[in-house]
Amino acid sequence: AEAELGGYPHYMLKEIFDQPEAIRNAMRGRLDLEEATAKLGGLNMNPHQLLRIQRIVIVGCGTARHAGIVGEYLIESLAHLPVEVDYASEFRYRNAPLDGETVVFAVSQSGETADTLAAVREAKRKGMRVLGICNQVGSTIARETEGGVYMHAGPEIGVAATKSFTSQVLVFLLLAVLLGRLRYLSARQGKKLIEAIEKLPDQVTSVLSRHKEIRAIAEKYADAEAMLFLGRQFQYGIALEGALKMKEITYIRAEGHPAAELKHGVIALVDERIPSIFLCPQDGVYDKNVSNIAEVKARRGPVIAIASEGDDRIGKLADDVFLIPQCSELLAPILTVVPLQLLAYYTALSLGRDIDKPRNLAKSVTVE
Ligand code: AGP
Repeated sequence: AEAELGGYPHYMLKEIFDQPEAIRNAMRGRLDLEEATAKLGGLNMNPHQLLRIQRIVIVGCGTARHAGIVGEYLIESLAHLPVEVDYASEFRYRNAPLDGETVVFAVSQSGETADTLAAVREAKRKGMRVLGICNQVGSTIARETEGGVYMHAGPEIGVAATKSFTSQVLVFLLLAVLLGRLRYLSARQGKKLIEAIEKLPDQVTSVLSRHKEIRAIAEKYADAEAMLFLGRQFQYGIALEGALKMKEITYIRAEGHPAAELKHGVIALVDERIPSIFLCPQDGVYDKNVSNIAEVKARRGPVIAIASEGDDRIGKLADDVFLIPQCSELLAPILTVVPLQLLAYYTALSLGRDIDKPRNLAKSVTVE
């Protein structure tokens, strides 16, 4: 096992650092610069069938569902298709109305999660086309779906999912480009996106090279009573994922919310002992986030901001800042989640937690 750890003290840290390679593997052979689109042959659907899709339902649990939420925003903005994301466990008992033009995507690293498998079977029973986004080749969900996309993230051993999440988001990005190019996206826009996607692995590497900055922030806030993770739009799913990572391995109470929900109740929690982590890269909702940060500061809440390089405003507002490389707002989730994974990891490390085997959790939940 030591060899597999490759010199890292924990699988989670190794898997966080595997991410440039994992997302490179997820995009390998799937980018077509000539046609300015993505190729996902495993879907087993021709362009005519892809064009007939009227609605997409995404089901998964935990981290996989969070990737689906990012996917929802990506597909809606690039392909203008209605997307609904649900907990696999709720979907199976909901009796959701579906029709023949709906395609269901089941997202699962292991491909063995009982709730997700049950959702797959329920959707199939209703006559839906169900596709999988799985990491484990030949897993039950991969076998029981009509097709899908493998993440190719490599084995993930740490209970806290990391590289499978960024690979899932990357797969959704490819899917959004593919569906978009069949509908509203021009060749010029498609090409720009593909060129930007190709830069992602190196950008993730540059975020990882600055792990010490995150470690210092983690040590500063490790005794926090609770933490709030706030993001909007493409960053909303990242806020949920950042909070899940924090609670899974540190046992600190952490909540993820859309930043705008602060004023609808969440802000009642804010005080000097509860830091708020704001996801505020350069995007269409940046100014809205800045006003939310000011509201938290006015209530003496510490603020950690994950922002973009070149942002000269944020340093004056937030207590601590981590800057990600500049990129399109569509791609930013892959870069902003990395500092949150590291934040959870280094916080757990300084609290002396059992990082790869957190209490009460199993890597894959094969019972209902
Ligand atoms: C992630 O850190 C969790 N351990 C958990 O939420 C996980 O994502 C969930 O159980 C789904 O697993 P799957 O992707 O293997 O289906």
